Amino acid sequence: MRSDVTLHLLDRTLLPELLHAAIEDADPLEVMPPVEGPGGWTPERRSAFLRFHESRSLAADPVEITFAIAASQRIVGAARLCPVDKQAGVAEAGVWIGRSHRGVGVGGAVWRLLLDRARAEGFTSVYVSTTPDNTAVRALMDRIGVDLVRDGEVLTAFVNLGNY
Ligand SMILES: CC(C)(COP(=O)(O)OP(=O)(O)OC[C@H]1O[C@@H](n2cnc3c(N)ncnc32)[C@H](O)[C@@H]1OP(=O)(O)O)[C@@H](O)C(=O)NCCC(=O)NCCS
Repeated sequence: MRSDVTLHLLDRTLLPELLHAAIEDADPLEVMPPVEGPGGWTPERRSAFLRFHESRSLAADPVEITFAIAASQRIVGAARLCPVDKQAGVAEAGVWIGRSHRGVGVGGAVWRLLLDRARAEGFTSVYVSTTPDNTAVRALMDRIGVDLVRDGEVLTAFVNLGNY
């Protein structure tokens, strides 16, 4: 596993670096909810990206925990843990990594670190949801022996933290 990959609790100092990584290396739809208007990193989408994190993990009463992902000390993406409504102890996991850093082991390292963080936060299970065409997430689940189950157009899994 890559040892140069680290997670850093997102704060207002890291947020501009995270935005920079997203603009340089990811599609807006991979990193935040859809925003109306012409495609690409328009000024509206850049502001929406900042508001998204300010209102969720940087709010006075945060609704989720977000980590900036660093590879060789450079911010390359984000990982989040969001408590699932009405399912005590369950957090939904979300990860994005900049395109130029995909497929070289960052996601595998992040996944392990994120499970450790989830356990440390007191969660007992992590929920994963992806699409059938997401080969990387399927491979990541496969590697830790977790079966994804088809649920309509998505594949989902609950990773029991007692097992990892
Ligand atoms: C999904 C994602 C986080 C995976 O991160 P990554 O750094 O590319 O993952 P890794 O390089 O550690 O690869 C993980 C596994 O997927 C495989 N993989 C990665 N990219 C692949 C591709 N394009 N095609 C086939 N397999 C791929 C790797 O071979 C590896 O398998 P292995 O463990 O059997 O060797 C990253 O691709 C990403 O950010 N995608 C866009 C956003 C997204 O889909 N997020 C997940 C939403 S649930």
